[in-house]
Amino acid sequence: MVKPGGPFKTPPSRTLDSTFDALTPLTVSRRSHIPAFEVMRITDEIAKRRAAGHDVVSLCAGEPSARPAPGTLKPAGYTGPLGTMPLREAIAGHYLDWYGTEVDPGRVAVTTGSSGAFQLVFLAAFDPGDRVALVSPGYPAYRNILTALGVEVVEIPTGSATRYQPTPALLDAAVAEHGELAGLVIASPANPTGTMLRREELTELADWCRTHRVRLISDEIYHGITFPDPGSPDPRGISALSLDSEAIVINSFSKYWGMTGWRLGWAILPEELIAPMEALASNFALSPPAPAQELALTAFTPESYAERDAVVAGFARARALILDAAPQLAWGEAAPSDGAFYYYSELGPQLERFESSTAYAQALLEHANVAVVPGNDFDPVAGSRAVRLSYAAGESAVAEALERVIRFQNAG
Ligand SMILES: Cc1ncc(COP(=O)(O)O)c(C=O)c1O
Repeated sequence: MVKPGGPFKTPPSRTLDSTFDALTPLTVSRRSHIPAFEVMRITDEIAKRRAAGHDVVSLCAGEPSARPAPGTLKPAGYTGPLGTMPLREAIAGHYLDWYGTEVDPGRVAVTTGSSGAFQLVFLAAFDPGDRVALVSPGYPAYRNILTALGVEVVEIPTGSATRYQPTPALLDAAVAEHGELAGLVIASPANPTGTMLRREELTELADWCRTHRVRLISDEIYHGITFPDPGSPDPRGISALSLDSEAIVINSFSKYWGMTGWRLGWAILPEELIAPMEALASNFALSPPAPAQELALTAFTPESYAERDAVVAGFARARALILDAAPQLAWGEAAPSDGAFYYYSELGPQLERFESSTAYAQALLEHANVAVVPGNDFDPVAGSRAVRLSYAAGESAVAEALERVIRFQNAG
């Protein structure tokens, strides 16, 4: 349910005790020291004054407001650079509903998908030459956006020993090999593996980042698409925000709500990044899309959650089909598919016939009309042995695909 704004306070961090009092503040990038786009800042101010009942005449933005001819598109104006206040409040309310964590709506930045949030957050937090760690296999856009922004990417190879997630020991090793880190990007559930961090594992990572003064960026886009054991204390996933108020949390309407094309996501920011994000967002994007923001308000109703949970139940059935078929697929080691809608597996014996997962995927498409993703994009080193299946397509598509894959392999 949508929670109204109200007197929110930033929750005290779990680890904020005297041991951490002397910690140096985390840095804000030099390149984000640009002025906010004044028109967009005033646009935000106008929206606030109008919401408070003032009759503001705006001669501010360069926005055509004339009525269109009947039957044509309704014009929609810019919103504030970090989104409309009703949506920021609704997102804050979502944290209270799902995680019991109070979030000041002023810390919520609405963006064009989580992709937009990554660009702005990376710009605000890191300068060229900074080092940011992430795991491999992992979502390729983290690596590619950071690289495009001149940030040095430190890839941490992971496997089944750590359930494809980083650990403090792996981070220590990365620092020893590459030098101090400025940031760590994590995802739980992750893409392509679907694996999730347990509460104690995420706590250890948050503590490591806090003591090493490394910015923790937690991609929580697959929260809610989880397949927890009954009685699990964290059925939707654990938000890094509930463990560490310094963490940057990124999320989106794309996956749980299935709104990929509306291009709407958000970041929850620590205090010191709000002004830099506002400056960057107001210049780079002016505002997130207004019609999408209006529509997204309906995402937080009980009916919407119920509908989306029914969709997740369908993913669970599709997932069960794959797990049941695993012996017949006769592939190699697979990541535990805890959440998201991915199954990431080594091809194992199938690679006796195909030189790589790319060759396997190509042959599968040509001969059986089944599309899977070879692992290279997620893991440039070991990905040539693995493939990712997305079961977002649903139960019947997955059942049909599995039959075809098994027939294709047996025919070979
Ligand atoms: C892990 C992860 N993060 C972020 C995104 C980006 O999604 P969007 O920009 O639609 O919010 C994706 C898309 O597949 C993803 O898998």
